[in-house]
Amino acid sequence: MNTVLPSTDLPLQSSSLALESSPLVLPSELSLRLRSPLQIGDVVVRSRVLQSPLSGVTDKVFRRLVRRYAPQSMMYTEMVSAAELHHLQRLPILMDIDLDERPISIQLFDRRPDFLAAAARKAVDQGADTIDINMGCPVNKITKNGGGSSLLRDPDTAVRIVEAVCEAVDVPVTVKTRIGWSDEDINAVDFARRMESAGAQMLTLHGRTRAQGYTGSARWDWIARVKAALTIPVIANGDIFSVESALRCLIETQADGIMCSRGTLGYPFLVGEIDHFIKTGEIKPVPSVIERLTCAKEHLTMLWEYKGIRGIRQARKHMAWYAKDFPGAAELRDRLCRIDSVEAGCYLIDQAILRLS
Ligand SMILES: Cc1cc2nc3c(=O)[nH]c(=O)nc-3n(C[C@H](O)[C@H](O)[C@H](O)COP(=O)(O)O)c2cc1C
Repeated sequence: MNTVLPSTDLPLQSSSLALESSPLVLPSELSLRLRSPLQIGDVVVRSRVLQSPLSGVTDKVFRRLVRRYAPQSMMYTEMVSAAELHHLQRLPILMDIDLDERPISIQLFDRRPDFLAAAARKAVDQGADTIDINMGCPVNKITKNGGGSSLLRDPDTAVRIVEAVCEAVDVPVTVKTRIGWSDEDINAVDFARRMESAGAQMLTLHGRTRAQGYTGSARWDWIARVKAALTIPVIANGDIFSVESALRCLIETQADGIMCSRGTLGYPFLVGEIDHFIKTGEIKPVPSVIERLTCAKEHLTMLWEYKGIRGIRQARKHMAWYAKDFPGAAELRDRLCRIDSVEAGCYLIDQAILRLS
C-alpha cells in the first residue's frame, strides 16, 4: 500500500529503500516550489524530474518506457553531432521523435556556432520543444574536436554557441555541462553565469569534473553554488539512483529539478518514482522482479520492431542491466548478452519468469 504523506513537509518512509535512521523531510517551501511546473523560457513542463540524454540508450523505445511511468517529464534524445547533420542528406535515427512525445529536447554537440545553429533549426523542424547543447561530454573523440566538456575551457566559444543558437530558433536553448575540467580548474559558477547572459534558459549541471569521468561522487555542493548564482532554472545531475538520493540532492542544492541518468539503466521506473513522490508524497511500490523482466522483454521486442537486428545487438546491454538482484541473474545476464534474435531473448526471459513465479 502507498504511504500518503502530508502535503507540506514530506518525510520519506519506505521499507523498500535503504534509508538512514531518521526519515528525510522535504522542507515545505522547497516542496511547494517543486510541485509547481518547471518553466523553461516559455515552455511549461509539469514535472521537475528529467530523463537525461544517454548516448546509445535514450532512443524512442527507451523514452517510451520512461514516459509510461513519467508522462509529464522532459526527455532528451541521445546527443546528435551538428557536424554530421551538416553532411547528411537524411536526418539520423537519433533525431527520430514521435509527434506525441512531449516534452522533448534534442541535444546537439559541436564547437562551431554556425553548425549548431543550422542543426538547431532542423531539430526544431523535427518537433523539439527545446534545444540542449552538450557542454559536458568527457569522451576524447568529442573533446579533441572542441566539443562537449572542452567548451568549459573555452567559454568565449561556448557563449558564441549559445548566442548563435538562440538567434537561430524560437524555442528555448538550454545547456548541460559539468562543474569544470579538473579539480584545479573548477569554473562552474562563472561559466554558468556566462551561459545565462548569453541567452540559455536552463542549465543542467553534472556535479563532476571532466577529469572525473563517471568516477568518485558528484559534488552537489557545486551545484548549490551555481543554483544560488543564477536566475534561470538549474537542474541537478549526478548520482541520483533512488527517491532518497533525489531528495537529498534537492535539499542540498535547492535546485529547480533533477535529472536521472545511470539510475535508469535497466530501470525505466526511476523518473516516475521520483516524480510521483514529489507530487503526492507517496512512495510507489517498487516493481517486482517479474515486472522488471516483463519490461525487459517488452524493451527487447520494441527494439527489434524498431531497429531490426541492430536493435537486438543494442538490446544486449539493456537486458544485462535488467537482469540483476535476483537468484539466477548472473547466468541469465550472461546468456542475454549473447542473444542474436528476439525469440532467443524472449525465451530466456520467459524461462526466468517461470522459475521465479
Ligand atoms: C552510457 C552513457 C551515455 C551518456 N550519454 C550522454 C549524452 O548523450 N549527452 C549528455 O549530455 N550526457 C550523457 N551522459 C552523461 C549523463 O547524462 C549524466 O550527466 C551522467 O551520467 C551523470 O549522472 P549519473 O551520475 O546519475 O549517471 C551519458 C552517460 C552515460 C553513462
